[in-house]
Amino acid sequence: MEKIVILTGAGISAESGLGTFRDAGGIWSENRIEDVATPEAFARDAARVHRFYNARRVQAAAAEPNAAHAALARLQAGHPGEVVIVTQNVDGLHEAAGSRGVIHMHGELARALCAACGLRWDAAPEMSPSDACPGCGARACRPDVVWFGEMPYRMEEVLDHLAGADVFAAIGTSGEVWPAAGFAQEAALAGAHCVEINPEASAVASDFHEARRGRASEMVPAWVADLLGGAGDQSL
Ligand code: OAD
Repeated sequence: MEKIVILTGAGISAESGLGTFRDAGGIWSENRIEDVATPEAFARDAARVHRFYNARRVQAAAAEPNAAHAALARLQAGHPGEVVIVTQNVDGLHEAAGSRGVIHMHGELARALCAACGLRWDAAPEMSPSDACPGCGARACRPDVVWFGEMPYRMEEVLDHLAGADVFAAIGTSGEVWPAAGFAQEAALAGAHCVEINPEASAVASDFHEARRGRASEMVPAWVADLLGGAGDQSL
């Protein structure tokens, strides 16, 4: 039974109205990474970092999954083998479309983490530096997202999945951020057929065997339909 491992990035949520990072007008053109997405930024100005993630949390909560998220949920439901979704996205749009077992390697906007005791819980829509941890009471609550300089979550598990993959697809990701940028190479070493679904060639495009160029909302349903033998182009 073919095992399919899928990596998604900001591009899959672009057509749901959530901005990508590195496209023109993207999140990193309006905010400097070192001001909002590092442990040092949080130590220096927690209120600013919370404001940045609060705005993204509110926006993500109002967003709807698009045809690409829906197609991946259909693939999980309809493919006879295992379909693992690993996402760099901190939104919850894969789950909103019906996907299960999604690995959030960069964390989730919807979750909070106590930097003092490690407790995790569902984040309030707006977090602030004065929030107290519901477990230990420390005023050290942060969004449960991975910042630059921190280790992405569940990497051993992801590497195990890549080692057993027959097909690997990267969707809507620029290939600029490691370790995710190295997943195609890992999967190819394990013998997987690697497909890049993105409007333009990513920074690691040469690691893939196949490229499908275009917007996720069109290319992903078509790819899923091919994998499911034509049954994948139905709506959910
Ligand atoms: P990027 O903003 O780096 O790349 C988004 C990719 O999506 C680009 O290659 C675009 O061409 C593509 N894209 C744009 N519109 C699309 C569409 N409609 N359909 C499909 N693709 C489209 O975002 P990521 O690669 O996800 O990490 O960025 C990786 C990580 O860098 C993020 O998780 C975040 C960021 O800094 C952290 O914050 C730790």
